Amino acid sequence: MGPVALLVLCLSCLLLLSLWIQSSGRRKLPPGPTPLPIIGNILQLDVKNISKSLSNLSKVYGPVFTVYFGMKPSVVLHGYEAVKEALIDRGEEFAGRGSFPLAEKTNKGFGILFSNGKRWKEIRRFSLMTLRNLGMGKRNIEDRVQEEARCLVEELRKTNASPCDPTFILGCAPCNVICSIIFQNRFDYKDKFFLNIMERFNENVKVLSSPWIQEKHNPHGEFTIDNLTITVSDFFGAGTETTSTTLRYALLLLLKYPEVLAKVQEEIDRVVGRERSPCMQDRSHMPYTDAMVHEVQRYFNLLPTNLPHAVTCDVKFRNYLIPKGTTIITSLTSVMRDDKEFPNPEKFDPGHFLDEAGNFKKSDYFMAFSAGKRMCAGEGLARMELFLFLTTILQNFTLKAVVDVKDLDITPVMNGFASVPPPYQLCFIPV
Ligand code: HEM
Ligand SMILES: *[C@@H]1O[C@H](CO)[C@@H](O)[C@H](O)[C@H]1NC(C)=O
Ligand SMILES: *[C@@H]1O[C@H](CO)[C@@H](O)[C@H](O)[C@H]1NC(C)=O
Ligand SMILES: *[C@@H]1O[C@H](CO)[C@@H](O)[C@H](O)[C@H]1NC(C)=O
Ligand SMILES: *[C@@H]1O[C@H](CO)[C@@H](O)[C@H](O)[C@H]1NC(C)=O
Repeated sequence: MGPVALLVLCLSCLLLLSLWIQSSGRRKLPPGPTPLPIIGNILQLDVKNISKSLSNLSKVYGPVFTVYFGMKPSVVLHGYEAVKEALIDRGEEFAGRGSFPLAEKTNKGFGILFSNGKRWKEIRRFSLMTLRNLGMGKRNIEDRVQEEARCLVEELRKTNASPCDPTFILGCAPCNVICSIIFQNRFDYKDKFFLNIMERFNENVKVLSSPWIQEKHNPHGEFTIDNLTITVSDFFGAGTETTSTTLRYALLLLLKYPEVLAKVQEEIDRVVGRERSPCMQDRSHMPYTDAMVHEVQRYFNLLPTNLPHAVTCDVKFRNYLIPKGTTIITSLTSVMRDDKEFPNPEKFDPGHFLDEAGNFKKSDYFMAFSAGKRMCAGEGLARMELFLFLTTILQNFTLKAVVDVKDLDITPVMNGFASVPPPYQLCFIPV
């Protein structure tokens, strides 16, 4: 037998073996498109529009199906019923964190975002408690966000109403809020140390953890510098880009829909006025603005397929068997674009969160922060930042587009797991 024939034989054996491994594992799993060896279903998925691809597949295979990203199966949950059943009704079983090759390398399973089991529970409880304790210190978190909102307005004033890309400035503000909470100190937007953090918040910067140990906010002896450092850097990672990207999208949508902008500004004028800064108490009197912020998050959908979850044990789900550790992908898009809950889901309309009388209308389908046990740990802070930053900006400026409004592109661009607004410029005109 020649070397070529031998090679072909070996390859065929490998191929058969991998097919056999895949199909023996597939028997109990939910149905799905047949995976190719090694590359799985990659060819059936459009990486630029994963949530659309998953929605296409759900039309064929139903709300619970399996796709292979490479050799490993992931179970996809599509639509409110399946997502709620898993994340809320059976939260404990679905509270694992799915694997994230890049994250494992940098974080070694520490930190809150990517940890699992007992470690995750302890870190999550600890982080939430720390956030709460720090927030109830001399100055509460609302004060800090308000201060940052004022600095943000000062910074925007320096643009002198000329066209600018708001990405950088809007990125500084949420980062500074986390600095302010963790270091008890905010930084000038040009400060070298601050800019360094902005660039490297995802690396394990040891210096980040030291202020915590001085602060003596550490009730558990078993928290090592490593776990703390990574938890802190998770807070920067999870709390900076998310909020600033949402702010950037909000301004873009307000440029595109001047009638929405006008109603929000009318409400700010009426409820807050010109004498003082907006505060969180105002929100309950500002249903339109509250609805606008929810609608921005619903429409934009920062994490269309959520962060990956994993089942923490063997799970029987709707007559399927999902083995322990299997990655679970929940399509948040399928929930937030549900056409019964939100008629005309493809349209940006704050009316999706208002009743006939114009009161704010809550929806269980609003899952921008996910739901259940693993839900965003910074939801309260994020909602506070979005409300206070947007209202303070719109109290001081009106927004002007640089191009004709009908040429303004609002189609999101996929950036890995996250969706981001297309780049744009605008002018902040002082009122
Ligand atoms: C608009 C802003 C934000 C959005 C849309 C958002 C959304 C999310 C989503 C969808 C998850 C995954 C939940 C899941 O796995 O089911 C998450 C997790 C997380 N978020 Fe946020 N987030 C935002 C802001 C923040 C902020 C400001 C912080 C921190 C101060 C934060 C901290 C976290 C943490 C620590 C986790 C991991 C929770 C865990 O694994 O237990 N997020 N976020
Ligand atoms: C989804 O299906 C539609 C109609 O079959 C097709 O035109 C579109 O390209 C598909 N999109 C993705 C991302 O797979
Ligand atoms: C922190 O990390 C150490 C290993 O460095 C580990 O033994 C310990 O259990 C961790 N603690 C928590 C709460 O994750
Ligand atoms: C924003 O506008 C309000 C009302 O005109 C004013 O009181 C406040 O000082 C302004 N904020 C900043 C930071 O300029
Ligand atoms: C994905 O596809 C849908 C429908 O075809 C479209 O409305 C949406 O804008 C696309 N998203 C991205 C990020 O391209």
